[in-house]
Amino acid sequence: MVALAAEYGTPLVVYDEACVRAMAAAYRDALVATGVGGEVAYASKAYFGRAVLRIVAEEGLAVDVASGGELDAALRAGIPPGRIHMHGNNKSAAELDAALTAGVGAVVVDNAHEIDVLEARCAARGITQTILLRLTPGVSPETHHYISTGQVDSKFGFPLAEGAAHEGVARARRSPHLDLVGLHVHLGSQLLDLDVFPQAAAVVADFVREVGPEGLAVMDMGGGLGIAYTPDQKPPPPAAFVEAVAGAVADAWSSRGLPVPRVTIEPGRSLVGRAGVNLYEVGAVKDIPGVRTYAALDGGMSEMLRPMLYGAVYSPLLANRAAEEADATYRLVGKHCESSDVLVADARLPHVRAGDLVCIPAAGAYGLSMASNYNGLTRPAVVFVRDGHARLVTRRETHDDLFARELD
Ligand code: LLP
Repeated sequence: MVALAAEYGTPLVVYDEACVRAMAAAYRDALVATGVGGEVAYASKAYFGRAVLRIVAEEGLAVDVASGGELDAALRAGIPPGRIHMHGNNKSAAELDAALTAGVGAVVVDNAHEIDVLEARCAARGITQTILLRLTPGVSPETHHYISTGQVDSKFGFPLAEGAAHEGVARARRSPHLDLVGLHVHLGSQLLDLDVFPQAAAVVADFVREVGPEGLAVMDMGGGLGIAYTPDQKPPPPAAFVEAVAGAVADAWSSRGLPVPRVTIEPGRSLVGRAGVNLYEVGAVKDIPGVRTYAALDGGMSEMLRPMLYGAVYSPLLANRAAEEADATYRLVGKHCESSDVLVADARLPHVRAGDLVCIPAAGAYGLSMASNYNGLTRPAVVFVRDGHARLVTRRETHDDLFARELD
């Protein structure tokens, strides 16, 4: 880390390629081992850098995209369009057109309006598009409410109550331009407990019994497996997630006499989160006697928003003195003009001085993909390391990049 900071500067995001590959392979192999068939699709919203998209594709994964921009990222990375799933709760006509032009493997249809728009676009082209319907199963996982999606009160998907989902399935089945091959749910993110999957599977299987299983050969159970941000968090490994999810589907369908569908899963965070670390240089250290000591880093909420948005807690290290005893407490803050710009509220570290390098592990998911240019800060460079070698995959943003769109 010290050598990388010297070579590429800070703030820097460093990914361990072997870690991404190992997680992808663990998911892939575990799904094969269940024997239910199906796909592992990387939820690219976690980080849609081209290098990582290529790596997960090389490991045999499909890719989920949630906007025209993410779709373009996947296409530019060379992902075969048939292996791309198009998500989004409010896809524009232009985004749907882009998905149809590319020939994506599936559009995950979120609502009745989207059926109207997609059907019209397909009719105009004289084509039939493979779709899944996203349902809101009405179960609430244990996670921050900002990243919980399966509950009834959600902007995502067709609600099961009041007949909206039944009507959605009936309409899709009637349409000559839509080929409904399955259903989709996503329950929430950063889940450390998998109990919610059997609940959701039972709800969806009841629904399938009501509408009939004809043509519903795919059950996409979404993503959600958490990672450890702090030592007390103990996420299940990918294989346990796959077994729990595929097992829940197999049990729920077979116990109702329904043919067991293929199971798709869409991990994002767990594929890339642990592989990525953020690296910062310490500048000002300010001690307020009897109150606390602040240590200011050369980035902040512009590339690491999760602490401010979700109260996420990280466990930093001093990269240049990692073996020294962590016997002091610091509030690690960024350089934005905001008191909320606190990256780690109570970081236990060795005595910190200007010039030290702070490394924040488990920062590879939902960091860069949620980054902004607040206060005119430029977004960090990204380096991938493999077998002891580093390569720059995204250069640091420049001021010219910041102002490139200004016309007047
Ligand atoms: N599939 C769908 C339809 C999703 O909406 C998501 C995440 C995933 C898959 C991937 O979930 P994962 O395996 O990463 O948990 N920005 C938040 C997380 C938002 C997740 C949104 N949807 C955070 O930083 O915690």
